[in-house]
Amino acid sequence: MRITLIPLLLALAAACVPALCGNKEQPVPQPEAPVGTRSHFAALDDVRLLANGLLQLGQSLREFVQKTKGQINDILQKLNIFDHSFYQLSVFASQIKEEEEELKKTTVVLKANSEEIKGLSVEISSKVDSILQEKSRLQNKVDGMEEKLRSLTHGLVTSEQVGEINSLKELIHSQERSITELLNAMREQSDQLNHQRIMIKTLEEKFTVNTLTQETIERMPEILNSEAPTLTPYLTSSSTSTTDMMNLPSDCSDLFNRGEGVSGVYAIRPTGTEPFMAFCDMSINHGATVIQRRRDGSVNFDQIWDKYENGFGDFQGEFWLGLRKIHALAAQGNSVLHIQLEDWKQGRHFIEYRFYLSGLESNYTIHLTHLSGDLADPMSNHTGMMFSTKDRDNDNHQDSNCAHNYTGGWWFNACGETNLNGRYFHMRPKGRSERRRGIQWRPGQKASYSLKLTQISVHPMASPSTTSSTSASSETGVFLRSSTRILQ
Ligand SMILES: *[C@@H]1O[C@H](CO)[C@@H](O)[C@H](O)[C@H]1NC(C)=O
Ligand SMILES: *[C@@H]1O[C@H](CO)[C@@H](O)[C@H](O)[C@H]1NC(C)=O
Ligand SMILES: *[C@@H]1O[C@H](CO)[C@@H](O)[C@H](O)[C@H]1NC(C)=O
Repeated sequence: MRITLIPLLLALAAACVPALCGNKEQPVPQPEAPVGTRSHFAALDDVRLLANGLLQLGQSLREFVQKTKGQINDILQKLNIFDHSFYQLSVFASQIKEEEEELKKTTVVLKANSEEIKGLSVEISSKVDSILQEKSRLQNKVDGMEEKLRSLTHGLVTSEQVGEINSLKELIHSQERSITELLNAMREQSDQLNHQRIMIKTLEEKFTVNTLTQETIERMPEILNSEAPTLTPYLTSSSTSTTDMMNLPSDCSDLFNRGEGVSGVYAIRPTGTEPFMAFCDMSINHGATVIQRRRDGSVNFDQIWDKYENGFGDFQGEFWLGLRKIHALAAQGNSVLHIQLEDWKQGRHFIEYRFYLSGLESNYTIHLTHLSGDLADPMSNHTGMMFSTKDRDNDNHQDSNCAHNYTGGWWFNACGETNLNGRYFHMRPKGRSERRRGIQWRPGQKASYSLKLTQISVHPMASPSTTSSTSASSETGVFLRSSTRILQ
């Protein structure tokens, strides 16, 4: 900034000498000249000089402003980056703290275990000792008896008595053998316990030393505020032959019934609409058309109405199929909305609703009737809600724009407890209001918890094998594949 100021000052000085600063002396007229014309010319010269100076001044000012603007932009950008990194750091810090607490708990449990094992070990040792004493006492007795036997055999003992005594001797010997075996077993046990104790100890040390988990820093995508790629548009007759178009399945379930069993992207054509591409999940025994998937935060879901209406994201990763297409699917009737969720502890759950979605004229109002599933149902009282985005507030909240506050487009109520299009958090944010922006499914007054995986799909009610239990237990296909990819 200093560099740009110098030419500015120079220009100012140049402009200043005749015109501005010399204001007092300059207009003094020459004595011989005719006063009127002379001063008129002098004034013209002054004006010209002044104009020149002002022009220069203007030029320099413009340059100065341009440069300053650039610098300010630069600074703003840096501030943005700083803000972002700061946010990331705070997120990591809170995550690390939580992990630390969990580790502390584990350590306490391990310590208790270790104590218990130590006690056991000591007990076994003392038992072994007492058994050893017992054994030596027995040995003495045996020795004494043998001595007696020998002295007795010198006297008069019947062969019957000798046989009896011998069998007794045999009994004592076998008793001794079994005692030795028992001792060995106990010693082994004790060794094993000791070994376990040492293992626990090293584990414990590892935990306390290494409370910071690595690898957490590498993720956290730079996708906040980014615009999501538009999903493939409708297919046109120029891109597909007419006969092919006529033969397209009406949805993924139809395609499944025609014998296609592999999950993937296919062209479908719901009754009465143009054909389009959709992701088919064929892993659940009936073929479902996937309308939303979250799994790694690679797509920014905080998008405007237009994006939510037409779809965005990437079929291979995260996407939103688009309200127009979802409406077309639901308009075929008998639709079931299947929602699969997975939390960060690998707990997988689902819920199903009878589902209908109105069209644009009613802002894609959702109609739900709870059917089944092992998830609590916070959505039933969203039935009849219009879709809202940050640029189209159709929620039931008087003073707030829920989509703006909580990010992502959804059937917000006031604002309600669900938002599967919220922000994807790889770890729990520190602030409550930030957490509330996450991917939510909160029945009742439960605290905010941002989910790890979501998949929303639709399929017709009619299919015979769509019972809830099969769909819940057979999440082996796409959903599981995507989760293993995350876990790697
Ligand atoms: C649909 O949403 C727009 C914009 O938010 C609103 O002006 C309009 O009244 C809504 N339509 C209905 C039927 O409520
Ligand atoms: C939404 O944000 C506004 C402005 O920050 C705030 O006044 C309002 O209370 C928020 N509403 C909800 C429901 O969180
Ligand atoms: C929806 O139901 C839940 C309880 O199931 C309740 O807490 C919430 O206030 C209800 N929302 C509306 C807008 O009625």
